[in-house]
Amino acid sequence: MSTIDLTQPLATLLRESTHEAHETVENSPSAKLLLSGGLAQDEYIRYLMMLWHVYDTFERALDRHAAHPTLEPTYNPTLLARAPLLAADISYLLGVQESSWQTHPMYLSLFSSMPGPLQDYVSRIQEISDSSDPSPLLAHSYVRYLGDLSGGQTIRHVISKAYDLDETEGLGLSFYAFKELRTAKPASQGEMKRIKDWFRAGMNAAGETSAAVKVAVIAEANMAFNLNAGLFSTIKLKDKGSKDLLSKEIAVQVEHAQPEEKTYPIGQVIAVIAAVCLAHFLIVVGGFTGNKGYQKLLAIEAWLRNFFQSGTD
Ligand code: HEM
Repeated sequence: MSTIDLTQPLATLLRESTHEAHETVENSPSAKLLLSGGLAQDEYIRYLMMLWHVYDTFERALDRHAAHPTLEPTYNPTLLARAPLLAADISYLLGVQESSWQTHPMYLSLFSSMPGPLQDYVSRIQEISDSSDPSPLLAHSYVRYLGDLSGGQTIRHVISKAYDLDETEGLGLSFYAFKELRTAKPASQGEMKRIKDWFRAGMNAAGETSAAVKVAVIAEANMAFNLNAGLFSTIKLKDKGSKDLLSKEIAVQVEHAQPEEKTYPIGQVIAVIAAVCLAHFLIVVGGFTGNKGYQKLLAIEAWLRNFFQSGTD
């Protein structure tokens, strides 16, 4: 069993202890499809809507607990807040005013029957926010913000190509953009690294408050990765031609399937032998001549055929 050295800084502990969870989410079919730019545009917009709901909930929670000693060092909505940017991107992609995207049928349909994993995610954030110790919210900041800061530029490029968005103009891509730490200028790759360093330093400062905080944030970070995996699991794997990739995969598997040798479980074989004996008894006792006998023979034949078919379905 691996042990955690709680004398290590929180940022180091988080990176090490979520390594596996990160790999799992990174290798999920939906993440791969998203990162290859192959996701159908409506599914991409639907995903952004779910993210908006998550960010809106946890950014409100961060505002509420802004002065908490664990959360204060990384609290910087001007730099980090993503919910307003997601709203701008969703509106742009839908081709509607920002004031009206929440009346769009896609949004209404998503939230009239909210997917379970999305409900779980926002409920968990709400639960922490309403608890006596909101420290684990730091884990949610870590998983989302440091993830966005890490994958940002690459994903931005892929998404711009996938949905024909102008990278220079940046419309529809603002979710992936960060401003410099001290100015309102767009952050370069080097500046993104500085922002990450600042964020990690903030987490380390928060971790110094107590070992219990470290333990709680590490546990919550793993849960946050799982919650993100849950969100990914709700993405319909259809490509841009709107073909359902899952059914395509199944079709390919069927095409490639080798004809199987027919085998029958021993129970079925015994049952057939018993049935044949019974049929034999009926034939012998009941007679097997004339039209009646012929009908019996047909009935037995049909029964045997059905039996074998149901055994191979
Ligand atoms: C979709 C596929 C993904 C790929 C290919 C990917 C790739 C990466 C890479 C290369 C880094 C290291 C960057 C660096 O150190 O500068 C990183 C860091 C990170 N990623 Fe991802 N990522 C993916 C998905 C995600 C998701 C879905 C999340 C969470 C929702 C996430 C959260 C993070 C976090 C928190 C870090 C920072 C780790 C640390 O330094 O403590 N990633 N990712």
